[in-house]
Amino acid sequence: MAAMDAITSREELDAWRIKYLGKKSAILAILKGLGSLPVEERKVAGAGANSLKNELEALLKEKEASLAGGQAGQDKAPGAVDITLPGKPVDLGHIHPITQVLYELGEIFTSMGFEVVEGPEVEWDYYNFEALNIPKEHPARDSMQTFWVDAPPAEDGREMLLRTHTSPMQIRVMEKQKPPLRIVVPGRVFRYEATDATHLHMFHQIEGLAIDKGITMADLKGSLYEFSRRFFGPDRRVRFRCDFFPFVEPGVEMAVECAVCHGSGCRLCSQSGWIEILGAGMVHPRVLEAGGIDPEEYSGFAFGMGIERIPLLRYGIDDIRLFYSNDLRFLRQF
Ligand code: PHE
Repeated sequence: MAAMDAITSREELDAWRIKYLGKKSAILAILKGLGSLPVEERKVAGAGANSLKNELEALLKEKEASLAGGQAGQDKAPGAVDITLPGKPVDLGHIHPITQVLYELGEIFTSMGFEVVEGPEVEWDYYNFEALNIPKEHPARDSMQTFWVDAPPAEDGREMLLRTHTSPMQIRVMEKQKPPLRIVVPGRVFRYEATDATHLHMFHQIEGLAIDKGITMADLKGSLYEFSRRFFGPDRRVRFRCDFFPFVEPGVEMAVECAVCHGSGCRLCSQSGWIEILGAGMVHPRVLEAGGIDPEEYSGFAFGMGIERIPLLRYGIDDIRLFYSNDLRFLRQF
């Protein structure tokens, strides 16, 4: 045993093997000599010699293995990483369900010729209201009350707020680009709301704007029908009804058939069979003028769609707050 412990190389181990287990070893001599012993003695000596031989062979194997491991180990510096070990699994995150919907909408509209642009979340009163034909004291402001930013008003009296919709980008784009133009604007909007299962003070919209010579209501309907076919599928019915927004004339609201009851009425659609998803209309001449575009020469359509409702409807989620509570048990499902 002590002889074995001292061994540190293959050569030494070979010498050990020849000495203790080779043809000229004591153990082999005993085994060979067994035949000449009387039966009773042969049994005892044979069993003893064999078990000793097995023990020696086991020791040999053990040493061979430890030498092999030790040699591999000699190739690397102490503390180096063993790259042959399996790696630690990396926890991969994924895209938030709301962002997934925004990407999907962006793809649909870009394939229809719209360009994706983004605008500021802190906005001038001028772009959010004034230029969109919502002067001070207009009642439409009440339905969109928001967070005013505590900054001294600019010299021309402009005030700042968190935008209440993505529509201010209509004006900003008209100021910079000449028609024909087709844009969509995804982004966050803010309203002074008490939060509950269906309301948030921060949510997302996607705005659409198309301006060119000879754009009509038929273009508006055609584009939005096409969007619905691609997003909700070819079988979902779509409904337009008159609605009012100060920055369009005429104005409409678009609803799609409820995914759950297909029009017969259920809890999700408040028994109406329809779910309103956006406001739209022909851009008001005053809005074109505010953007520096001649309403005699050009016309356009615009729409603004709420985003949170869409996955709500798609997956049957009953509380909108889940999107923003950062609970991984919820988010991992998408
Ligand atoms: N900005 C409107 C809203 O937030 C939606 C809208 C956009 C309506 C464009 C008509 C045209 O409710």
